[in-house]
Amino acid sequence: MPVESRLLERISSRRAALTFLGLGHVGLPTAVAFSRAGFQVTGVDTDSQRVRNIALGKCDIREPGLDEAVVACLDRGGLHVTCDSYEPIRMSDFVSICVPTPVEMGKPDMRNFHAALDAVKEGVHRGMMILIESTIPPSTTSGTVAPRLRSLGYTIDEDILLAYCPERLMPSRALEEFASNTRIIGGIGPKSRRVAAELYKTVSRCVEVTDALTAELSKVAENTFRDLNIAYANLLALTAENLGADVNEVIRLANTHHRVSIHKPGLGVGGSCLPKDPYLLIQHVPKSASDLIRSARKINDEITRHVVDILLKAMDKGTGIKGKRIAILGVTYKPDTEDVMNSPARYVVEALTRAGICVCVYDPYSPETYGTERASSLDEALEGADCVMIATGHTVFKSIDPDHMRHLTRSGCVVFDGPRILDAARIEAAGLTYLGVGYGIQKGRVS
Ligand SMILES: NC(=O)c1ccc[n+]([C@@H]2O[C@H](COP(=O)([O-])OP(=O)(O)OC[C@H]3O[C@@H](n4cnc5c(N)ncnc54)[C@H](O)[C@@H]3O)[C@@H](O)[C@H]2O)c1
Repeated sequence: MPVESRLLERISSRRAALTFLGLGHVGLPTAVAFSRAGFQVTGVDTDSQRVRNIALGKCDIREPGLDEAVVACLDRGGLHVTCDSYEPIRMSDFVSICVPTPVEMGKPDMRNFHAALDAVKEGVHRGMMILIESTIPPSTTSGTVAPRLRSLGYTIDEDILLAYCPERLMPSRALEEFASNTRIIGGIGPKSRRVAAELYKTVSRCVEVTDALTAELSKVAENTFRDLNIAYANLLALTAENLGADVNEVIRLANTHHRVSIHKPGLGVGGSCLPKDPYLLIQHVPKSASDLIRSARKINDEITRHVVDILLKAMDKGTGIKGKRIAILGVTYKPDTEDVMNSPARYVVEALTRAGICVCVYDPYSPETYGTERASSLDEALEGADCVMIATGHTVFKSIDPDHMRHLTRSGCVVFDGPRILDAARIEAAGLTYLGVGYGIQKGRVS
């Protein structure tokens, strides 16, 4: 039977066996989603501790509903986890690559991806389909993956099907977004497109089908756009500070035009995608135009250094900074998650510690300390602080009572609200000084 027909039959009958290489923030929720859809799924990871934990139903990835879903899939026998990739790949109809593809010094580090390809090579066989969910530089599917399979004697889109199906989920909403986000399917040829689309239709509400290169470009294009937009918001914040305006009000008013949608400024950009994906795109952008992306990256990195400068000046007040105490509320890169990947809070904690400030962090979601003191409660963090910095806009921090904060902190305490979640007027009415990115810096509050 032709490969395409056989795989389509195995999808519709749910007899297809799937293997996922990499059981992290992307691979594990994806493996769970396909297991729940009725497929026989094997998850492979090189981290034996992670595999042992998952097998016991204790994932170290904090995702609402994930632990329970993993346990249900394991109990039902629809999910197996292992460190050994050979046998699962040999027995699978579909293998999906979900390994990290970080960027080091602006250059993609594809070592994990190549290791995963080596593993695929060991167990590859005619009649299977290879799917790539890792974020990869444009043209990797046709320029790197396909030639490696061809070198083994296979005809791509005939003997072996191949597609790039980028992941777009947001940590903390992985299971929900896995189903609700539009899934882009970038098949290397018509058969690959059709089979991958049918497979993802079993778990995603909407699929968009295209070729592999367009899918690769669309993935890095969407995240680069968001990075550029945030850089523009940060640029406006710096401008508002120079002129003494409130950037939030400027952006709110600009966004009342239905064709404008400017993001919010902040402490910088974190996470696994936004600080990385622009570098995957930039390699292919004509040199004359690449400054746009490079400048945006620079602004989003430098805003974090700018915040540190503001904090140092705000805490100095002519009496020096040595021994002064700051409470940093939030260490994760985005609200209401445990994910600390590339969190700007890390840079702030480390820079202030180096400057001789006593830094105490508090985050109800993450045990991360960045090598400093960690408070076990909000009150413990606030006690005796000369400065309180909101680094992550966790929902719980929105209800901090300004009078209570004033009561616990030292006289003259400055509140620096990175994500601008507190009410400036209420903070000031309680006798505290309020500063934010793009707010209050020029009003004589910082010398
Ligand atoms: N985290 C996100 O929010 C997100 C969103 C969209 C896309 N992505 C992309 O998805 C990919 C995976 O990211 P992640 O966040 O899941 O990473 P992660 O670090 O959370 O997990 C990756 C897992 O892969 C394992 N691994 C590494 N090499 C392996 C190999 N050769 N074989 C088997 N397992 C291996 C690691 O041990 C780890 O458990 C990356 O390319 C990332 O850019 C991530």
